[in-house]
Amino acid sequence: MTLAGRRVVITGGSGGIGATIAQEVVDRGGTVLLVGRTESRLKDVAVALGPAAAYAVADVTDGAELTAALAGAGTIDHLVTAAAGGLAGPFAQLPEDDVRDFFETKFWGQYRAVRAALPRLAPDGSVLLFSGFLFRKPAAGLSAFAAVNGAIEGLVKVLAVEAAPVRVNALSPGRIDTLGGGEPMPVGARREYVAMAGTEAVLGRIGTAAEAAHAAVFLLENGYTTGVTLDVDGGLR
Ligand SMILES: NC(=O)c1ccc[n+]([C@@H]2O[C@H](COP(=O)([O-])OP(=O)(O)OC[C@H]3O[C@@H](n4cnc5c(N)ncnc54)[C@H](OP(=O)(O)O)[C@@H]3O)[C@@H](O)[C@H]2O)c1
Repeated sequence: MTLAGRRVVITGGSGGIGATIAQEVVDRGGTVLLVGRTESRLKDVAVALGPAAAYAVADVTDGAELTAALAGAGTIDHLVTAAAGGLAGPFAQLPEDDVRDFFETKFWGQYRAVRAALPRLAPDGSVLLFSGFLFRKPAAGLSAFAAVNGAIEGLVKVLAVEAAPVRVNALSPGRIDTLGGGEPMPVGARREYVAMAGTEAVLGRIGTAAEAAHAAVFLLENGYTTGVTLDVDGGLR
C-alpha cells in the first residue's frame, strides 16, 4: 500500500521529524495537512512542499481548535501525531503543573488527535503515534518523558484492537538531530549534546530526521503491521 494519492494529517508538521515525514509523503505522491501552533513555520514548510501541502493552525492542547482543524481535512488516510513539548528536571523538583502541561501536549494532544480523526479515518488507513527512547532507557532528569512515552505505548496495542481495520502503531525515536520538543540550544551546548548522543548509541552517532521518517513511512505503508512500537534509536535502548 503506497502513499500515492493518500491524505496524511501531521500534527507537529511544521518542524523536526513531522516536517520530514511530510516531505516523504509528498515525494511519494501523497498530500499532507500540517498542524502546528505557529503559522509562519507552517507556511514555510507548506510552501517548500508545494501544492500537495496545506496547513491549519491549531494547538493540540486545545480540543476545539484541533477538532476544527481535522474537520477541514475531510477523509483522512493516515494520522501522524508528532507534536510535542519537552520537560527536564529532577523528579522531586519538577512542579506538578509543569508535568501536567507537558502531558497536555504529548499525551493528551495525541489522544485528542486520535479521537478527532477516528470518525474520518479511511478503513485501510492508519494512526502513527509518537513515543520515545526514554521509556526504555532510564535517564536522570527525564522522568516526565519516560512516563508520557509509557502512556503512549500502553495505548498502542489496545487502540490497534479497537480501531481495526484501521492500523495503529507508534514510532519510538532515539536521539535525533531535531529539537525533540525543546528550544534550540546554543551552538556549543548543541555540539556537546550531539557528541554525547554518539557515545550512547550502539551505532556511535545521533540519528537523522530522515532515518526516523523512513521508519514512519514503513509503518504508514505496511498493511499488515499494527499494534507495534518501532524503535529507531541506533541501538540506544
Ligand atoms: N528528537 C528527538 O531526539 C526525539 C527523541 C525521542 C522522541 N522524540 C519524539 O518525536 C516526536 C517529534 O519530535 P521532534 O524532535 O520532531 O520535535 P520538534 O523538532 O521540537 O518539532 C515539534 C513540532 O511540534 C509542534 N508543536 C509543539 N507543541 C505543539 C502544540 N501544543 N500544538 C501543536 N503543535 C505543536 C512544533 O511547532 P510549533 O512549536 O510551532 O507549534 C513543531 O512543529 C515527539 O513526540 C518527540 O517527543 C524525539
